[in-house]
Amino acid sequence: MRIIAHAVPVGLIISVLSVSVSLAAGLKGDPMTTIIPRPVHCEIRDGEFRLTEKTEVLLAPAVREVENVADLMLSYINRSTGYSLSTKPLPPGESHENAIVIRLTEDTSVRNPEGYLLEITPRGVLLSAREPRGLFYAVQTVLQLLPPEVFAAERGSRNDWTLPALTIRDYPRFIYRGMHLDVSRHFFPAWFIKRYIDLIALHKMNVFHWHLTDDNGWRIEIKRYPKLVDVSAWRVDREDEPWRGREPQEAGEKATYGGYYTQDEIREIVAYAAARHVTVIPEIEMPGHSSEVLAAYPELSCTGGPFTVATGGYWPNIDIFCGGNDSVFVFIENVLSEVMGLFPGKYIHIGGDEADKRRWRECAKCQARISNEGLQDEEELQSYFIRHVEKFLIAHNRRLIGWDEILEGGLAPEATVMSWRGVDGGIEAAKMGHDVVMTPTSHCYFDYYQADPEFEPEAIGGFTTLKRVYSLEPVPSELTDREASHVLGAQGNVWTEFIPTPSHAEYMSVPRMSALAEVVWTPSEDRQWEDFRQRLDLHFKRLAALAVNYSKGSYAVEIRTIPGPDQKSLQVILSSEQSDPTIRYTLDGTEPTTESQEYTHPVALKATSTVRAGVFLDGELEEWAAGKTVVLHKAVGRRVEYKNAYTDRIVSDDSFLVDGLQGSLNPSDGYWQAFEGNDLDVLLDLGEVVPVQTLFTTFLDGKGSIIIAPSTVVFEVSENGKDFSELEEIEREVVEQKDILVREKHVAVLNEPARVRYIRIKATNGRVCPPGYLEEGMPAWLYIDEIVVE
Ligand code: ACM
Ligand code: ZN
Repeated sequence: MRIIAHAVPVGLIISVLSVSVSLAAGLKGDPMTTIIPRPVHCEIRDGEFRLTEKTEVLLAPAVREVENVADLMLSYINRSTGYSLSTKPLPPGESHENAIVIRLTEDTSVRNPEGYLLEITPRGVLLSAREPRGLFYAVQTVLQLLPPEVFAAERGSRNDWTLPALTIRDYPRFIYRGMHLDVSRHFFPAWFIKRYIDLIALHKMNVFHWHLTDDNGWRIEIKRYPKLVDVSAWRVDREDEPWRGREPQEAGEKATYGGYYTQDEIREIVAYAAARHVTVIPEIEMPGHSSEVLAAYPELSCTGGPFTVATGGYWPNIDIFCGGNDSVFVFIENVLSEVMGLFPGKYIHIGGDEADKRRWRECAKCQARISNEGLQDEEELQSYFIRHVEKFLIAHNRRLIGWDEILEGGLAPEATVMSWRGVDGGIEAAKMGHDVVMTPTSHCYFDYYQADPEFEPEAIGGFTTLKRVYSLEPVPSELTDREASHVLGAQGNVWTEFIPTPSHAEYMSVPRMSALAEVVWTPSEDRQWEDFRQRLDLHFKRLAALAVNYSKGSYAVEIRTIPGPDQKSLQVILSSEQSDPTIRYTLDGTEPTTESQEYTHPVALKATSTVRAGVFLDGELEEWAAGKTVVLHKAVGRRVEYKNAYTDRIVSDDSFLVDGLQGSLNPSDGYWQAFEGNDLDVLLDLGEVVPVQTLFTTFLDGKGSIIIAPSTVVFEVSENGKDFSELEEIEREVVEQKDILVREKHVAVLNEPARVRYIRIKATNGRVCPPGYLEEGMPAWLYIDEIVVE
């Protein structure tokens, strides 16, 4: 993860229950549907089933796999109800009242191997599926249909446990429904990995991508290479310092932060996941993101080292496995042999991302390999590297999956591509007939901010709200049906540079995981944001019962403006991701209370105002009140003509330069406008000739990013739109600073107020990140928020 600046015929009528199974048109959109992810078909009936201490749980057949599913269900139910329900084989031929029947059968209308049929009447409950995993998802649905307290660890005060009478036929849209967790940047104990798998299973997701190795620590015991856990798993503890800019380990310093999973722990976790129908995909990074290995085994590098385990942020990632040294392949094959012994799933993730090739360019061994193998360049050497590893995996009946950089220099023949730098890599791979998993940073990076950065714990950057995650369409429209069939699904990624604890990992993962679960499960035509957010309130109660530290980022009020009817004033628009929220606000900067004005329609502003607004639930402010100063100046609400296009990669529209709102020191807070490569060149039309004295605007500049303040800024004014006069820039100053980001203000004045209607502003994009910037040599972006005219 780099630092970047910136979705039947019914065969079964089981006589013992006499379930009504008329499955004619299901009541899609019925508000009683409380389940996340939303099921495919649901028909609500009259009445309810009452779960009591006498309810029988009957298995057909009573085989191990069915028992496992039933036991998992009962572990929740018995804990929270205080009952001691147990399972029995379904006796043949008899009629049972007050029974939950769990039936594994070929004879069901739901053909999908992960699908299930759930029938609930006042007399009984029937779960049926062709495979145990289908039964497992039926159980998840039953749990979600019970009151949310069923997820509590202990018995509470509730005594009535009912399920609505209904019929559900359900199955997933995609076969790959994943969540990732980086345990290198911060180490997470084994108990949390199980809890994370529980969350995955709760959401009917089925893959846990375990990012086990990276520059900040190796986390898997490999018996053959003990120094991986003795050396590579530990770094000097600089947890009290900001992640970026930590000093490397010095001579004599002891490495004390870290940890690893023993092979026994891994086996236990893999079994735990398997019982929940979650496949664990281990990731072993290569050739890049591997400097922690080099700290223990420097002979696997190009230079011979020495190296230390990175204490925090680093960039670029220069020291990687040597591509010309056969002992690197011996090491990797030995490691992967032990890895395959622990992880029975089909896929082994080999990373492949962000490998800086500068060492390879200078290394005699790498250059010898390039010429001996007839390779074009270092990109092809990477491809050679990955193909070599793929051959090894295929020989062991496994499949290679890697980040989209494995496309560079030529894709290994049977590789599956995980598309993270947008969806283009995924499109390219699918067009080549390769399988892909979509995990674009824009929607799937759950280490990004999920609400106003001002009120959020520090995150790596970005801005990915719940609604944005929900809007992901994993199948790009460019793909034909045949190509689209290669899109296996999508995955949420949780990189942990800024996530030091289990509870923080929960905060970043949920409820964005809930939104993504629906993206990968529910048919796209049934996926509706309004409907989802109605169900989310109840889901929050489940998460609360599970004591999950879920984020209430969706309660954040977004403050926006629209031009007033006169096109020269502003109205404030307030919204949140809640369903029909009660939002209260003030215009004087004070925190809103239950006495404050309730927001019902756009609020016309008469003067510059500091808006504070929050969601009120049961008479109390939820979380915090958002705040934003709306500056009324002479250009607000006016028309802006863009000579060069702004980027569509971050949220913005034409009004952003004159909406009265300024950005924060988070480039992705939704208030900045960015030009990717282009210069800024805009013409403001004030609509009438007015006296103007001062113009100013602000830009961002970040040494740790690709955002560069402009080298030149030109202000011009005109009365008639033809004759422009250039103004003198009188001031250029840093007005705000945080870490490596600064906000730079440029001010121009007229000697005396002039008659002005048109204002043209040009600013030169830095083009390329200069030396001294972390991303030296990368294309630069220009960030501007508002053009203030006074
Ligand atoms: C990645 O975020 N480097 C895959
Ligand atoms: Zn080399």
